[in-house]
Amino acid sequence: MTNKILILPGDGIGPEVMQEVDKVIDWFNKNKDFKAETEYDLVGGASYDTNKTSISDSTMTLAKKADAILLGAVGGPKWDKVEYENRPEAGLLRLRKDLDLFANLRPATCFSALSGSSALKKEVIEDLDILIVRELTGGIYFGEPRGIEDLGNNNRRGINTQVYETWEIHRIAKVAFELARKRNNKVTSSEKRNVMESGLLWYEEVKRIHEDKYSDVQLEHMLADNCGMQLVRWPKQFDVIVTDNLFGDILSDVAAMLTGSLGMLPSASLGESEESIFKSALYEPVHGSAPDIAGKALANPIASILSFSMSLKYSFNRQEDSDLLEKAVSNVLNKGLRTKDISDGSKYISTNEMGESIIQELNNIS
Ligand code: IPM
Ligand code: MG
Repeated sequence: MTNKILILPGDGIGPEVMQEVDKVIDWFNKNKDFKAETEYDLVGGASYDTNKTSISDSTMTLAKKADAILLGAVGGPKWDKVEYENRPEAGLLRLRKDLDLFANLRPATCFSALSGSSALKKEVIEDLDILIVRELTGGIYFGEPRGIEDLGNNNRRGINTQVYETWEIHRIAKVAFELARKRNNKVTSSEKRNVMESGLLWYEEVKRIHEDKYSDVQLEHMLADNCGMQLVRWPKQFDVIVTDNLFGDILSDVAAMLTGSLGMLPSASLGESEESIFKSALYEPVHGSAPDIAGKALANPIASILSFSMSLKYSFNRQEDSDLLEKAVSNVLNKGLRTKDISDGSKYISTNEMGESIIQELNNIS
């Protein structure tokens, strides 16, 4: 069976890092019984420049047919003046919403070779392995009403609505509890129940589903501001963190930076599952388009390569291949090879050299 992979490189460093991913896919095609066909299309500002929309209907059709979508990054100052509904980020948000990719998995693991590159002390992040489960299709990102109203007299009102319903909270909480059972069996649910009714509902519904179905898993509730603080104080207290769309966006950037660089962290956005294979799935690095370093061969392709590794696990049911790729990355880091973001600034290799080193390591260990 040939797997269909849609690659959407996007903007900024997106195309550079996806080029390295393409080589890795190629390697698995040639060296394993993994068969994948790749197709390329536009998203974000790149799509806007050609199609005047940040994702076209024909790209959405391809996305719906694909077994997995690999995305680079979207956005950049070039599109600052574009109408709001066509801004690069809108393309990514439409993919998430229309494919109902409600479960965003953002692991923050620290490769031992990099335990010195974090802004935090080594003992705080050494062997760190936490997973943020972010709700991705609801909350304030999509809530209505929204908009900017002109109230006259030079006064305007900006509105967004944080809204969650029981079923949305239950389905994301289930994903978190199921994943925790395969890890260290602990879930921390994070919201602002002290300020927001939607947070209170979140708290009560997570508590309810826990009592009903997952009482074997340890559950803890933590206010989102405290969670941000605890993440930088002692991150190893966490196993799985489940949280809403907005808090998940913020907390996952914090968690990612614990591990040394945003350039290291992959993510998976998954739709409803049939057994263990997810119907729709999009994989992307947690980092953004980094326009300041785009085109300079400075980008770290590891987050994107590890995102492909997540697809091997969650979309293609190939745990062994996923492990092999992670091992190759880990070995390359153990050899001291670094892109600029994870180097001490004196000696580093290019995006392309990092990709090639990982391929070489795959050859060595397979
Ligand atoms: C992320 C990004 C996106 C988000 C942007 C690019 C729309 O920050 O995936 O974390 O806010 O969700
Ligand atoms: Mg973000």
